Amino acid sequence: MTMLDPNRSNRSTTGLRPGLLAELDASTIDVANASTLPPELYTSPDVLEFERDALYAKEWLCVGRAEKIPDVGDWFTVTICDEPIIVTRDKAGDVRAMSAVCQHRAMQVCDGSGNSTTFKCPYHHWNYALDGRLLGAPAMERTEDFDKADFGLPQFQVELWQGFVFVNMDPDATPLAPTLTDYDPFIANYDLADAVCPGTFTLENMPWNWKVMFENFNDGYHANRLHEYVQDFCPSNLTNFPTEWSDDAGVIFREGGYTMMDGGFNATHQAIMPVFPKLTDAERSRSTFALVPPTLCLGTAPDQAFFFLVRPTGPETIDVEIGYIFHPSALEDPLFEHKLKLTDVGVQVFVEQDSDATAKVQRGLRSRFAPRGRYSWQEESHVRFNRWLVQRYRSGQPS
Ligand code: FES
Ligand SMILES: [Fe+2]
Repeated sequence: MTMLDPNRSNRSTTGLRPGLLAELDASTIDVANASTLPPELYTSPDVLEFERDALYAKEWLCVGRAEKIPDVGDWFTVTICDEPIIVTRDKAGDVRAMSAVCQHRAMQVCDGSGNSTTFKCPYHHWNYALDGRLLGAPAMERTEDFDKADFGLPQFQVELWQGFVFVNMDPDATPLAPTLTDYDPFIANYDLADAVCPGTFTLENMPWNWKVMFENFNDGYHANRLHEYVQDFCPSNLTNFPTEWSDDAGVIFREGGYTMMDGGFNATHQAIMPVFPKLTDAERSRSTFALVPPTLCLGTAPDQAFFFLVRPTGPETIDVEIGYIFHPSALEDPLFEHKLKLTDVGVQVFVEQDSDATAKVQRGLRSRFAPRGRYSWQEESHVRFNRWLVQRYRSGQPS
């Protein structure tokens, strides 16, 4: 079976420019003294090329919900940093992930979603099994030393966590779940693996860097400021960072306390869907906001979890796939579709306000006057994200 060498790259990367790593130290110290990251990290094509090797080829990448492919042969594709990936359920019922790049002349063997017994590349009909083995290749009998076993689709590691599928192109990557244990107690009562995601929608080529997106999701400082009135029940001063930061952590998260129980991110400030039944009163009085970089932003409210899947399409552009997750009883409600619309309308207000802010942040980061700013105590989660990032930049920097 073909396994991808994580160091294999068809582009030349030279790493971060000399001196830049040292400049990042100022962003990883305690929040009272730290400065924001240098603006070039958000605008430079070279930085994204570096991140493609240092992060995306080595980290666990969330590609969506496992419930999206319930049956054998179900599949979908997703492209992350120019790597098209097939996610499928194989004959044994296991989720698999592999490169969608045909090992003949590199056409993408399939695109979108469907159900198949094999993947047949449309170009010359090389035909691959659900586990990526090359089953057939027409008119190759005169090709010398051609062994189908050498041309399977490169296989990736797969791990399921809370109903999400994560893939990793690095065959030597260590498991994801042990790095997320700090956050586990905060979502255990949601039983997210058995909850339902009715679908997702994707905002394409949004004009900001992937880290601007992560920082916005990770930012309690703007809660009742940018979102004044609509988020007043979950104000910035109830932002809390419940655990100490550990360098082994693969998750950065914070709590957003409510001024009341069962709040909701809509014009009524009330939960619309059924509240998850196992939640404690404390859990019904807060949201959590978590990053599992570099692709998943996951949040909770009493009646839903919500997630953003962030996929760079360039140094200053991303696709963002957004989904909600509800308790299964939500679907039994005859008014489910109406309530879903209400939920969605509520969330769209936040998405519009945030989109306006993040697009203008990105524009500002291109300015010659873009700052290395300072942080409020309400932004401690940004320093934790910086630590996650800089640690990986260091290990990814060619020596
Ligand atoms: S590129 Fe796929 S069969 Fe030729
Ligand atoms: Fe926001």
